[in-house]
Amino acid sequence: MKKPEMKVEAIKNGTVIDHITANKSLHVLKILGLPHEDINVTVAINVSSQDVGKKDIVKIENRELDSSELDQIALVAPEATINIIRDYNVVAKDKVRFMKELKSIIRCTNPNCITNTNEPIESRFHLIKTSPVLLRCHYCERLIDAEEIDKQF
Ligand SMILES: Nc1ncnc2c1ncn2[C@@H]1O[C@H](COP(=O)(O)OP(=O)(O)OP(=O)(O)O)[C@@H](O)[C@H]1O
Ligand SMILES: [Mg+2]
Ligand SMILES: [Zn+2]
Repeated sequence: MKKPEMKVEAIKNGTVIDHITANKSLHVLKILGLPHEDINVTVAINVSSQDVGKKDIVKIENRELDSSELDQIALVAPEATINIIRDYNVVAKDKVRFMKELKSIIRCTNPNCITNTNEPIESRFHLIKTSPVLLRCHYCERLIDAEEIDKQF
């Protein structure tokens, strides 16, 4: 082990998503389309951390996730840190960023919204504010708050 305080076993190569809001790691996995049969994922839920109290951690072996996948994570874990691991070392570290516009897994709550009809139109939202998150539907202007986002996972 690289450090005595490490909460889960070290990985040689891959991605560590650290400082995930406590109990939100399963939301994060859903956003990333994980688990997937070929990918080893380790999850630590509700562990103590000196810097943020309680947090979740996700470790994904042999995959370096790209930033467009990772920025979706900000929706549920705005404080998350992305660490790229190569040969057991952290070679890059980045915070997730909120995108001004989201094309996302979240659905608009307005049943009459065009994205909820038979039209093949993907949901699309504008970020109004963070902490707590507030989104506005691009098509019908319905506001979607953090509680609603949480419900959809
Ligand atoms: N080889 C590895 N395998 C698995 N996890 C690792 C590996 N190296 C680091 N980590 C984990 O990645 C995260 C970031 O590691 P780092 O060494 O940068 O810690 P840190 O100094 O506490 O970083 P931060 O300032 O972001 O909290 C930690 O959760 C650490 O446990
Ligand atoms: Mg730390
Ligand atoms: Zn809408």
